[in-house]
Amino acid sequence: MRKPFIAGNWKMNTDGHSGPALVKAVGQGLTQFDMSKVNVAVIPPFVYLAQIVAAARASRIAVGAQDIYYEQKGAFTGEISAYMIKDVGCNYCLCGHSERRHVIGEQDELINKKVHAAINGGLLPILCVGELLEEREAGKTEEVVERQVKKGFEGLIAAKAAAVTLAYEPVWAIGTGRTATPAQAQEVHAMLRKLLAELYDKSFADDIRIQYGGSVKPDNAAELMQKEDIDGLLVGGASLKADDFLAIIKASIGD
Ligand code: 13P
Repeated sequence: MRKPFIAGNWKMNTDGHSGPALVKAVGQGLTQFDMSKVNVAVIPPFVYLAQIVAAARASRIAVGAQDIYYEQKGAFTGEISAYMIKDVGCNYCLCGHSERRHVIGEQDELINKKVHAAINGGLLPILCVGELLEEREAGKTEEVVERQVKKGFEGLIAAKAAAVTLAYEPVWAIGTGRTATPAQAQEVHAMLRKLLAELYDKSFADDIRIQYGGSVKPDNAAELMQKEDIDGLLVGGASLKADDFLAIIKASIGD
């Protein structure tokens, strides 16, 4: 059984007051739920990570970073290593989020190095994949996400790859209010699981969690999570409101 995993990617939002208040409100709300049924993480901006780790300490909320660099230390101005992220008390990091791919210009090869560095540094990477609208319209969804997954996992033996959570985030659904239908998401998730069975084996594919992301809201979370191959949600905008994020978590565990 794959335990639902709900993560809130705060992107470049919150500040030193609103972030701790948000994580405390979520932590407080989670006391009503059976936390053995779900994993919850928040993913704040780098500069607030230590503060959010401290504010989340009394709760069951894990903390992750939105990115890492693949070197451990040295002359890489502006970059942050997996070691540093782990050192401030985080467990997770995103790798290859669509905004890193399409706004900042990260390529598959760099993202693969980050996935390796995350695992070697003791973090659990959330590898994000997803097609652009024009790629979907050109019938290239499968080709694009297959390439992103193959490159993302390149060189990883199963024992290491098992640390990865995969997140399918169709770029056209991110921040647009245009969610993939549960059937559209399920179709890609099933394809990804089949691909992972080919790359590794069936038991690996059965165990790995695949999150969906892209305009997840309290009113669509339950039907997305009901799909067989959707094991969690990577939530952007709705994770910035404690009530909405809690409603999404609640819907995901069916409480
Ligand atoms: P939205 O939920 O705001 O569409 O963002 C999705 C996302 O990119 C999460 O990583």
